[in-house]
Amino acid sequence: MAQAFDVVVIGAGPGGYIAAIRAAQLGFRTAAIEGWRNAKGELALGGTCLNVGCIPSKALLASSEEYEKAQHLDAHGISVSGVKIDIAKMQSRKDAIVAKMTRGVEYLFKKNKVAWLQGFGRFTGRSADGYTLEVAGVGEAQSISAKHVIVATGSSVRPLPGVTIDNEAICDNVGALAFPAVPKRLGVIGAGVIGLELGSVWRRLGSEVTILEALPNFLGACDDAVSKEAWKQFTKQGLDIKLGVKIGKVSAKKSGVTVEYTDDKGAAQKLECDKLVVSIGRVPNTEGLGCDAIGLALDPRGFIEVDEHCRTALPNLYAIGDVVRGPMLAHKAEDEGVMAAELIAGQKPHIDYACIPWVIYTNPEIAWVGMSEQQAKAKGVVVKTGQFPFSVNGRALGLDEPVGFVKVVADAATDRVLGVHIVHARASDIIQEAVTTMEFAGASEDIARIVHGHPTLSEVVKEAALAVDKRSLNM
Ligand code: FAD
Ligand code: NAI
Repeated sequence: MAQAFDVVVIGAGPGGYIAAIRAAQLGFRTAAIEGWRNAKGELALGGTCLNVGCIPSKALLASSEEYEKAQHLDAHGISVSGVKIDIAKMQSRKDAIVAKMTRGVEYLFKKNKVAWLQGFGRFTGRSADGYTLEVAGVGEAQSISAKHVIVATGSSVRPLPGVTIDNEAICDNVGALAFPAVPKRLGVIGAGVIGLELGSVWRRLGSEVTILEALPNFLGACDDAVSKEAWKQFTKQGLDIKLGVKIGKVSAKKSGVTVEYTDDKGAAQKLECDKLVVSIGRVPNTEGLGCDAIGLALDPRGFIEVDEHCRTALPNLYAIGDVVRGPMLAHKAEDEGVMAAELIAGQKPHIDYACIPWVIYTNPEIAWVGMSEQQAKAKGVVVKTGQFPFSVNGRALGLDEPVGFVKVVADAATDRVLGVHIVHARASDIIQEAVTTMEFAGASEDIARIVHGHPTLSEVVKEAALAVDKRSLNM
């Protein structure tokens, strides 16, 4: 007889595995379907994030940053010579971190009594009491039933028409995280988050990196002050970023890859590189999911349609994470997973989508939450802003990380914080104060009046909040 569950989660990335754990904590008989295989061919939980996304990229960013820093310690009076990097060792460190994290999810499933159904799930129909699914692709196919289903199938790299990814010469994130040696010349298509993070990794290790970006402006989603500073820093570091290009023919030969493109003036150009990374965004995974079998609607871009509570139009069916609207971020997927499980349990959770932080883990890092000054103005909101640099902050100077600033955007009438934008080596650790303030509908004066430890980088957030009313103390 088909196994019957209260809750079945399809996909065990950060959205799905967290949803399954929360559902099990709430007392539901829960299963998660997952058939991901890693480079060794082993079945692994954790999805894109743990296997080929957030976790391995941050491991390589850290290794490459240490390598670069070790060569620039003169200011501390430390001279180091003959710094070398062993790429194989760096990669096995990364692989060990990934293995620890993905096995950690297996442990959490056992601890919380979540059944891992190995394979890929597909809807086969609806019943009076929920949904029927087939799990196939690993061992014998099996049929199961579920009262409630949470779809968390994630996303895959957006293909570039006419370009075949082989993860040897032409790579997506999977190949770009696993280079066995530093490519002398690395081409990247797309100056978004992956292009900048992975471009930075390989530049720090010695690659000549050229990034080809279709849009005429750089990091258009960021506040203008942030994109301007980021452009200045990244180009100074040696990333060669070409904006406003149109990609033409891409051909791979034994000797490398040739990318033909037209530049922002319409002139024909050629980029010759040893490896090419394609990072032009990601698309939702719904192929083979059997959406038709149950009448589950997709929006025109292929995402599963959901409301602000991740409810689809069908009863007891939720979808979360990269497969639905909103930013493709692991923490957004996780919180949606918790929300879906708690809704099934009759609770009343909600997510404030205006308060989801973004972090780009370059150096300097870029972090923001809420609206940029330009977005607020475009919505007709009258704003006041405050900006303060790290260059006069004692802690930043002590750390030899004086580059960057904090910018606070507040409503001119109410002083409510609408957005906070940070450029700094440790922006990822500083942004959370802004997220918390915004979640509690705080004002810039709230931040300005809260005692901040000294000397800390967070004092710059306080000074930027003070600057909103033109009363910074240390400048
Ligand atoms: P995924 O993690 O994609 O997981 C979906 C899972 O569903 C996969 O395991 C897949 O095998 C499985 N699946 C698909 N179809 C089926 C099926 N039919 N049956 C069963 N299983 C199925 N985000 C951040 O917040 N911070 C970062 O630093 C960050 N860095 C990133 C770096 C890179 C290089 C990349 C590519 C992404 C990064 N992201 C980051 C984005 C983040 O990885 C995603 O937003 C996140 O993984 C989405 O989670 P998810 O659970 O929705 O989907
Ligand atoms: P992205 O959306 O961040 O950037 C894609 C870039 O490619 C854009 O600048 C776009 O204009 C450009 N582009 C699109 N088509 C193009 C073309 N034909 N030619 C040239 N340029 C083109 O997508 P990316 O970098 O692939 O990352 C995917 C997603 O993964 C991100 O949006 C983010 O949600 C997530 N991610 C998050 C990270 C983090 O939180 N630190 C790190 C890495 C990825």
